[in-house]
Amino acid sequence: MKFFVDSADTAEIRDLAATGLVDGVTTNPSLIAKSGRPFLDVIAEICAIVGGPVSAEVAATDHETMLAEGRKLAGLASNVAVKVPLTPDGLRTCKALSDDGVAVNVTLCFSAGQALLAAKAGAAFVSPFAGRLDDIGHDGMALIRDICAIYANYDDLRTSVLAASVRGPAHVIEAARAGAHVATVPPGVLRQLFRHPLTDAGLEAFLADWRKTGQSIL
Ligand code: G3P
Repeated sequence: MKFFVDSADTAEIRDLAATGLVDGVTTNPSLIAKSGRPFLDVIAEICAIVGGPVSAEVAATDHETMLAEGRKLAGLASNVAVKVPLTPDGLRTCKALSDDGVAVNVTLCFSAGQALLAAKAGAAFVSPFAGRLDDIGHDGMALIRDICAIYANYDDLRTSVLAASVRGPAHVIEAARAGAHVATVPPGVLRQLFRHPLTDAGLEAFLADWRKTGQSIL
């Protein structure tokens, strides 16, 4: 499973990328607004930090303008994945950009039927929002499982399932169990994945015993 960071905070992204475990980044207009910085600058900077796909979302809702925005975003760096919403115009734009060789991430996916359409439109990624479904009393992970199972029926299908709106480590584990190709995780959730209290306690005990030996490795 690949890990993307769901953030437009370049300091956080740089810090996490140093672990060598970050395969890409996703942003959205809300994350860009939170950064308080110019969109195009932020995307160009992230693309220089992380070699993998960096999702940058169009802001228009009509096909012609989405296409123009998508082409401009794709021109920023070779690893930009243009993000379009799962609307008829978004999917039309996805098809046009994909036909031109641009990677497209179809976002705001909330049903398996929508995911089928995204795949048919040639999306490189489809982003089902697990957490937002949970928020309204639905089962977000059931959707991820459904999409993974459906996509697995078709050998020629090239769309990766990108589990989005991830709220905690349990979502990541469930998405991996379902076979999602990617999880995009907020920085805090990625940090949580590293941690376990028994790791901390065990390390403390090992280091205390090591100090008693009076030895050093270097
Ligand atoms: O970037 C898309 C998605 O991950 C947003 O998540 O937490 O705003 O529902 P959230």
